[in-house]
Amino acid sequence: MLIKNQQKLLEQLLGSVSHEQKIWLAGYMQGQIGDFDANVSTGISSIEKPPAMIYFATETGNSKGLSLQMMKAIKAAGYKVKTSAVSRLKVKDINPDTIAIFIVSTHGEGDPPESALPFFEDLQNASDGQLSGLNYAVAGLGDSSYEIFCGAAVRLDKELQRLGAKPFQAPLLFDVDYASHAPAWVDQTVKSTNELIGANTSSAETAPSPDEEFIVRAGKGYTRLEPVKGTIKHIVNLNDVDSTKQTFHIEIEYEEDIVYTCGDAVGIILPSEQNNGDNTPRLYSISSSPSYHENEIHLTVALATHKNEDGSTGYGICSKYLAGLQEGDEIEFYIHQNQNFNLAPDDKDIIMIGPGTGIAPFRSFIYERSERGASGRNWLFFGDQHMHCDFLYQTEWQEHLATETLHKIDLAFSRDQSHKVYVQDRLREKAKDVVEWIDNGAILYLCGARDPMSKDVSQTLVDIFAEQKSLSAEEAADFVADLEENDRYLKDVY
Ligand SMILES: Cc1cc2nc3c(=O)[nH]c(=O)nc-3n(C[C@H](O)[C@H](O)[C@H](O)COP(=O)(O)OP(=O)(O)OC[C@H]3O[C@@H](n4cnc5c(N)ncnc54)[C@H](O)[C@@H]3O)c2cc1C
Ligand SMILES: Cc1cc2nc3c(=O)[nH]c(=O)nc-3n(C[C@H](O)[C@H](O)[C@H](O)COP(=O)(O)O)c2cc1C
Repeated sequence: MLIKNQQKLLEQLLGSVSHEQKIWLAGYMQGQIGDFDANVSTGISSIEKPPAMIYFATETGNSKGLSLQMMKAIKAAGYKVKTSAVSRLKVKDINPDTIAIFIVSTHGEGDPPESALPFFEDLQNASDGQLSGLNYAVAGLGDSSYEIFCGAAVRLDKELQRLGAKPFQAPLLFDVDYASHAPAWVDQTVKSTNELIGANTSSAETAPSPDEEFIVRAGKGYTRLEPVKGTIKHIVNLNDVDSTKQTFHIEIEYEEDIVYTCGDAVGIILPSEQNNGDNTPRLYSISSSPSYHENEIHLTVALATHKNEDGSTGYGICSKYLAGLQEGDEIEFYIHQNQNFNLAPDDKDIIMIGPGTGIAPFRSFIYERSERGASGRNWLFFGDQHMHCDFLYQTEWQEHLATETLHKIDLAFSRDQSHKVYVQDRLREKAKDVVEWIDNGAILYLCGARDPMSKDVSQTLVDIFAEQKSLSAEEAADFVADLEENDRYLKDVY
């Protein structure tokens, strides 16, 4: 707003005055301009603006990142604004006098993210007209290579209209390259919001800046549209001879200038001769550390099998393709960011629960923490069928224990005794310590199979908190939901 010379003069003046003089100057400036109008700084007329709510539904953090971008822009335009996950939102709690902006991704087969399922159910059960008076905008995040593109956003839009809410701009459905189109949408949404309430603004004043916490990487190497090439450096089956499973540790070397962080996944592009017309990439959690394993990405891939109708063994398309790769083979991939599964700050304790291939991101976490010399303690829960043939990365965990990079490990091998033992049983046995770690600020991570593992673990956590903290089942469920909402219980389940 100030020209260069004015800016310089102001800096000189402020550099030479005392604190008391600054306070006097503030009063003097206020006297010069009369009543302070919060909108002056944004250039918007002083029409009273309704508060705005930005609701997001996310699985891997993209929608949350975009909602923070949106929040900044709306705030800069002079609105009071809040963002909130829809995880605990009820239709009755949506105030029709607010402006509502929904940013919703789609997962599974056209479904809302898991944490948003109760809200979608509540929407479905709400009565026609229940949200009349509400003005809203919807953005969907999705991937057009899936059969039902942005299904959750489309469904949300329909339900909101049925409930009597009015869209103040057409819903926008983003494909995988959303990051490059998001700034224009944010800008447009601020303009539409201003138009709705009769205020004016220019685009320059609302241009959003990306959130520091949520760096969205776009372009080559970050979506299936622009994959990069790598070479297989090493591939080995981690299971031993007696195992019923095959889990491949795969090291990919690459020269491209791409960046990943712990918790991210890799999207594998199937070669056309392998994909049987199925062009949807498959995701695999990254099990290497960007600091420790420079220019390499490691994956931990279980060969998926099933019985065909004729009794023969069938295989999953992508895991079969990966399992068949050899050293020197070329592979096409991209980094799929997961901003909902970031490694905690170095001084925080972490509890990692990752049976089967759920172990992958935790291998990445531990190497990263050892490289950084992180002071936080690390506790791992791992499980599989048999200790002697299914203990993935056994020698590495033993070394990490010896060097005190790993502080605690609890193992559940389900078929090594007459009754089945799973990671949630080990959690229950260690309930007191788990609660003590959590009360001390530890962050919980869960990775691996969504069904039934992740559900059983979450239920066990509720039971543990109920028992250890003498809470009712409902209070304990709330406690776990609070942990989730505050990024203290992070899940990457599939
Ligand atoms: C965020 C994320 C992270 C992931 N991380 C990992 C990881 O670290 N490691 C890992 O191993 N996996 C991981 N996965 C799972 C992975 O993406 C794939 O889903 C998995 O490898 C199966 O893919 P596929 O192409 O081999 O099987 P697909 O061909 O997609 O088949 C899917 C399943 O159906 C079965 N099937 C196929 N055809 C039939 C049929 N005719 N009858 C009966 N059953 C059939 C297959 O055996 C397989 O079990 C992750 C998934 C997500 C979303
Ligand atoms: C396992 C999986 C399933 C998905 N299914 C769909 C789908 O059915 N339809 C769609 O449009 N997008 C689908 N997507 C793409 C996501 O919606 C997209 O990656 C989005 O940017 C994720 O946003 P989020 O991080 O906020 O969850 C799927 C992604 C994954 C990983």
